[in-house]
Amino acid sequence: MADSKARKLAAGNWKMNGVKASLSEATTLAEMFPTPTVGILLCPPATLIAPMAAALSGSKIRVGGQDCHAKPSGAHTGDISAAALVDAGADYVILGHSERRADHGETDHMVAEKTLAAFMAGLSPIVCVGETLEQREAGETLDVIRHQLAGSLPNASDLDTLVIAYEPVWAIGTGKVPTLEQIAEVHDDMRTTLIARFGDGATSIPLLYGGSVKPSNAAEIFATSNVDGALVGGASLKAADFSGIVTALQNA
Ligand code: 13P
Repeated sequence: MADSKARKLAAGNWKMNGVKASLSEATTLAEMFPTPTVGILLCPPATLIAPMAAALSGSKIRVGGQDCHAKPSGAHTGDISAAALVDAGADYVILGHSERRADHGETDHMVAEKTLAAFMAGLSPIVCVGETLEQREAGETLDVIRHQLAGSLPNASDLDTLVIAYEPVWAIGTGKVPTLEQIAEVHDDMRTTLIARFGDGATSIPLLYGGSVKPSNAAEIFATSNVDGALVGGASLKAADFSGIVTALQNA
């Protein structure tokens, strides 16, 4: 990895959006933040990782993948290994995003294996957890999150590089955001759960919130207990939007 993991992190997940022409958004962002005081990360589609890393070389913005395979190489058509992401210039990889869990049937166990592969390749994994609306309305949120954390993190987790993202499924791309009390409840519980399992070293694991984060709501979310940054979808695609979120984190 080029740098050690940032304690406060504004991470953009471009999902299945962006082509070569979109790289100008990344370079514009780099020009806006030549010396950021927080980590800035963009996770473009796999085809853009290498060109984005090249376009951002010399800047402080890091590049990440959106998934990796659990195995280091082999007959897995269409998949990408953690080592290949590193080779392309990635420092981070998002794992277990709810869209991967829903679209590709990824289980907690599979996410744990991918997370281990990321550690072994020298990537910082951003492991995603989050409840559905049905689970929240049934009062199951904390149980669901604890269960996902237990199953999605390998025992041999590297606390120096691990990042966790709490993304309520019902808040992703919907414009709906939990109350600040609801975010704090989950983030505080995740912190307690991680310390109980991994010890005091877990106090420094960055806990990101994701789900309809915008420049207009970022400051209050970043002021919330145990929120160390954000994993941003739609509002990360344009430098004009994402810069407002980065600024809010720098001011938090
Ligand atoms: P939105 O910011 O578009 O709601 O997406 C959140 C997300 O899923 C980031 O991984």
